[in-house]
Amino acid sequence: MILSFALSAQQHLITNVTGRKTVSLNGDWQYIVDPYETGFYNYRWQERAENDREAYWNSDVPDNKTDRKEHGYTDEYILKVPQDWNSQDSKFLFYEGTVWYKKTFNAKLPSANERIYIHFGAVNYQAHVYLNGKKLGKHTGGFTPFNFEIPRGLLKEENNFLVVKVDNKRLKDEIPTLNTDWWNYGGITRDVNLVTVPNTFIIDYAVYLEKASVNAKQKTITGWVVFNEAASGDLTIEIPELKIKTEAVYKSDTARFSIQVKNLQLWTPEKPKLYQVILSSTQDRLIDKIGFRTIEVKGKQILLNNEAIFLRGICIHEEIPQEIRRANGQRDALQLLGQAKELNANMVRLAHYPHNEAMAKVADSLGILVWSEIPVYWTIDFANADVLNKAKLQLKEMIQRDHNRASIIIWSVGNETPVHEARTRFMRELVIRARALDNTRLISAALEVHNVNGTQTIDDPLGQYTDIVSVNEYLGWYGGLPSNCRNAKWSVKYDKPLFFSETGAEALGGFHADSLTRWSEEYQEWYYREQIDMMKRMPDNYVGMSPWILNDFRSPRRNNPVYQEGWNNKGLFDQKGNKKKAFYVLKNYYAEVERSTKH
Ligand code: GCU
Repeated sequence: MILSFALSAQQHLITNVTGRKTVSLNGDWQYIVDPYETGFYNYRWQERAENDREAYWNSDVPDNKTDRKEHGYTDEYILKVPQDWNSQDSKFLFYEGTVWYKKTFNAKLPSANERIYIHFGAVNYQAHVYLNGKKLGKHTGGFTPFNFEIPRGLLKEENNFLVVKVDNKRLKDEIPTLNTDWWNYGGITRDVNLVTVPNTFIIDYAVYLEKASVNAKQKTITGWVVFNEAASGDLTIEIPELKIKTEAVYKSDTARFSIQVKNLQLWTPEKPKLYQVILSSTQDRLIDKIGFRTIEVKGKQILLNNEAIFLRGICIHEEIPQEIRRANGQRDALQLLGQAKELNANMVRLAHYPHNEAMAKVADSLGILVWSEIPVYWTIDFANADVLNKAKLQLKEMIQRDHNRASIIIWSVGNETPVHEARTRFMRELVIRARALDNTRLISAALEVHNVNGTQTIDDPLGQYTDIVSVNEYLGWYGGLPSNCRNAKWSVKYDKPLFFSETGAEALGGFHADSLTRWSEEYQEWYYREQIDMMKRMPDNYVGMSPWILNDFRSPRRNNPVYQEGWNNKGLFDQKGNKKKAFYVLKNYYAEVERSTKH
């Protein structure tokens, strides 16, 4: 069951935005760089009052020639939205701090039967949003969507003055925290839309296949719809291709339904069948494309539609290395997932944060399984209750946006967090919360491995709560040489599916030497050969891997002046998109596995 997200109107997140009446605010926005946050705090470091004339969300036009204005927006300073600022101008390459974005636009006012919202696909990291001098709200979290209703009467037909304060400063008590192995791209990195909806509208919905019926001739599709307010009326659910049209009566803010279906074609990586689903209520109508499948763990196996699967994965950062920018939208998703397909992969681990919405939609259509993750990464402030709430909010926003995507089979609550009591308590809370929000998918996290008297030991206490045991290991890169894999012994405490969520080695694309030479493509190739031979000797609960990583990516931690220069080069594709030698080792292994698991 996927928990409905019925919340008070102010808090809810509108899903399936692209299926609604939208006006895009993408394009050129004017900006002011404000590292001292002068536009937000006065000289006594007090937050400026809403009507403070020197606040950067208020008009920058002098009243007359004597008027003193010390801020202003001009076409001389333009940033493209959506796109991180780091990749748009060399002065932003290393910038972390506040940038004010401003957009002036005309609008069609909503009718008396409509509401209008402003929706952001994501802003990294914190956003304060103002319209015509009024604060609409604030959102914290760099990789999940949010929206604010525009109060009736605030929107004008002409010259609306929209201002967003974006701050990507890293802070200890945020998610992620101060240290990460990826570049902290800042800005309005995803789409911005005005969304017009009926007064009573469908906020969210779930339509999915009941697990128990997956093998039955007659299958059960179940679901629910949540409205923004309590109402009563008839909800119609249609799946035209299956000649389904059924009614559900609702008398509150939620309607539930269950439909018996014959001749349903299940969604699989080989045949990723998607059905058009139409939900219509008295005032609203939404269309989505949904795949029906089940995923579960049975003993040491992962079952997709009740059949054991092997995950031929690869990790992906949300980045287009050729343009050194955050990825966003369908074209970028096709590029990244197309590379994964070239690898014979059937699964991607979207590290280490929720990627943009296009990724899971394209994965749905390409038949690629997805691991989706919140950036509870490394040394989070685990003892801080506020930080746990921030993590829970990001988890809810991730699950609420994508829970109708068949490709997503795993929600991950974190990566490589250090084992101690406060951390395991914190992470257990997230596992429980994730399962409460959506118990139709597997819950995981990248756990810790440690060496006990020469044996690679997996006994991370968090493993007792997750559905699968996933670990990152770098035997032969961060310890010893790849030949150490030959006599590696592994001990796994849990009788659950064992998945290697990372393994990898760096190589500077085009640098060739003998295989013992660190940073050469030959070393990385040797690493993959030894690692794959070791995987073939794994215990029988080994269900797959997602090596680190598809593409070289920008990282502030990698400063070898010859072989890194601010890049983590563990990619199987280099920064220019060329395949390294190790690419072919993994591709061949996956082709071999695919042949051996074909029925
Ligand atoms: C870690 C971490 C990655 C990091 C990788 C590396 O496992 O999860 O985010 O980039 O190792 O060291 O390259």
